[in-house]
Amino acid sequence: MSIFQFPRKIIFQRDILEDITPTLKDEKISSILVITDKIVRGKVEKKLSSVLKNFDVIVYDDVNPEPEIKQIEEVSKSLRSNVDAIMAMGGGSVIDFAKSVLIKMTYPDKDLRDVNPFEKLDFRIKLIAVPTTSGTGSDASFGIVLTDGDRKLALANYNLVPEIVILDSSVTPDSAKIISATGVDALVHSFEAIASNTSTILTDALAEKSIEIIFHNLEKSIKGNEESRDLMHLSATMAGIAFSNSGTALAHALGHSFGSTFHIVHGISVGLFLTHTIEFNSRDEAIKSKYEKIARMLGFSDISSLIEGIIFLYRKIGQPVRIRELGIQERDLNAKMEELVSKAMMDSEIAFNPVIAGEDDLRKIFTDAF
Ligand SMILES: [Fe+2]
Repeated sequence: MSIFQFPRKIIFQRDILEDITPTLKDEKISSILVITDKIVRGKVEKKLSSVLKNFDVIVYDDVNPEPEIKQIEEVSKSLRSNVDAIMAMGGGSVIDFAKSVLIKMTYPDKDLRDVNPFEKLDFRIKLIAVPTTSGTGSDASFGIVLTDGDRKLALANYNLVPEIVILDSSVTPDSAKIISATGVDALVHSFEAIASNTSTILTDALAEKSIEIIFHNLEKSIKGNEESRDLMHLSATMAGIAFSNSGTALAHALGHSFGSTFHIVHGISVGLFLTHTIEFNSRDEAIKSKYEKIARMLGFSDISSLIEGIIFLYRKIGQPVRIRELGIQERDLNAKMEELVSKAMMDSEIAFNPVIAGEDDLRKIFTDAF
């Protein structure tokens, strides 16, 4: 049996945030806790000022990247919990922070470390996600990534999929670096949702379309084409639904390990390993034919040309192709090799890879990626 979890409502239109009052009224929402960060707040405040006048609003804007459990627990105690909705406005960290606050407000005694997919959580407060980057897919997923001291925790519960997602690409950044890294993250989500050993035709369909959109629109989106930015924003959510209902795989396991060891942003880290994992997973005939289908869809003759096409795309958008391009020395990579391998082996996403990868395989991919 497959169970698919989707947001209940996805609203997609450029500048819709300025005109969101009727939607919120339809949902019988009168009080809102807005969770965001200071940068996003500065950017959207003017856009939202007339809308939020119609509601009883509290704003919490002190979310930092890689949210800490300790901070969430303290903040949840201090914020008013009798609101109709939590509106998470930001990137993946903000949305994950808001999901965690939702849990703590509903179940104050619950230890966030114990959250798991199998328990029934029942939320009275509606979670509204307004992603401000085009990539993480957290707006469509039931996962949360939190920091607990020096540990990273990947938690999940099916009731954490946001009820309402508002996709307004006018709030996404103009920075080429951010668009490129988040867009590549969405590209990797799509490829891994297709490769994952829990993929289905439904998740394949969303992920294939998302790959096609990203291939044709990521570069134009960086150059400021508004239609491409809209499409990138929607395809990031499509990829989010795909990987949330399927899985990410080896490139995410390697990327999590590499990113936390060398402090490299997520989209760049996972992007470094995409072509290597396509090559590695192609030893499985069924996955090979899935990659060949994607290659044909994009106009490439075979998997080698598809890999060349991905590298060509990376070059056009300024995305690093090799570890050495980040200024990391070979001796530093080798000095950290055992840590890198062991962290990747422990990563939850490695279980979704269609081909079992051992320590030697991981060492080889890290070395090849250099
Ligand atoms: Fe990702």
